[in-house]
Amino acid sequence: MKSWAKSKKSEWKKLAKTWAALKPPWKPSNERIKIYHEIIKKHVKRKEALLLGATPEIRDLLAKLKMKVTILDISPSMIRAMTSLKKKKNEENIVIGNWLTTKLDKKYNLVIGDSVVNNLSLKQVNRFFQQVKGFLKDDGIFICQIAVIAKPLEKISISTDDIIEKARKRPAYYKSYVNRAYDYCQWSVLHRRNKIINWGELNEIYRHKLKNKEISKKEFKLLDFNLPDDVRMLFLTKQEFEKMINPFWNIIEEKYEKEHKVSKDFYRIYILKPR
Ligand SMILES: C[S@@+](CC[C@H](N)C(=O)[O-])C[C@H]1O[C@@H](n2cnc3c(N)ncnc32)[C@H](O)[C@@H]1O
Repeated sequence: MKSWAKSKKSEWKKLAKTWAALKPPWKPSNERIKIYHEIIKKHVKRKEALLLGATPEIRDLLAKLKMKVTILDISPSMIRAMTSLKKKKNEENIVIGNWLTTKLDKKYNLVIGDSVVNNLSLKQVNRFFQQVKGFLKDDGIFICQIAVIAKPLEKISISTDDIIEKARKRPAYYKSYVNRAYDYCQWSVLHRRNKIINWGELNEIYRHKLKNKEISKKEFKLLDFNLPDDVRMLFLTKQEFEKMINPFWNIIEEKYEKEHKVSKDFYRIYILKPR
């Protein structure tokens, strides 16, 4: 039988492999890292940074900028996996803990995190913002990158039948993971509950259609997003999110990556200062 230590090791190795194979916008592109670099140079005078999550590309940037870095992440396996993907070596203070409850004994000039709010439930967002404000020095900034819907809703609504029709007409389009994600996010706008995209719900619709022979095995394979049923993601419109930001933060700047069309419509980078 596998020892506990061995099974943990294979878990983080698997996570590391998955992350290495992921492509932007699921992980930071060079352009996103360049945006972070410019924001930090412009707004952050001192060198103490707190990273929410363990994203290796951001850690490499903070190392390059010679910042003193604290990592706050709840998952030891994820931290190990992401650490194995870092290209730069530097000393980091690693804290295993929940963003919503962990007390840190220091305050930071910069708090930064990729898709952190997408990992919360709607009810947790206010608490999260309060916590992050507590992590920051008075003149500090929070770089908050998030997947949000930045396009008007009525133009992007799409049904699963629309998706199937599109897959039949343009199978090459859905061979791209990003294109599939793009349309599935649009689909969820109509069907989500609690503002959470529930990939399991979508998988179930396609499994049902396959069983009823409404779609072929080949079509099912093309439409399958290959995410486990339990993957969920908080997904708000830009307006909804900015309403939640407002009591806690001033928006100093707002950016998106220009390289991929998904980023313009589905991602934002907010530079926030405590109110
Ligand atoms: C911040 S995101 C960054 C990665 C990626 N961009 C994404 O969208 O998932 C994922 C990381 O957040 C961590 N995480 C999720 N919820 C957390 C929480 N409440 N407290 C601390 N870490 C959390 C996970 O362990 C994981 O390493």
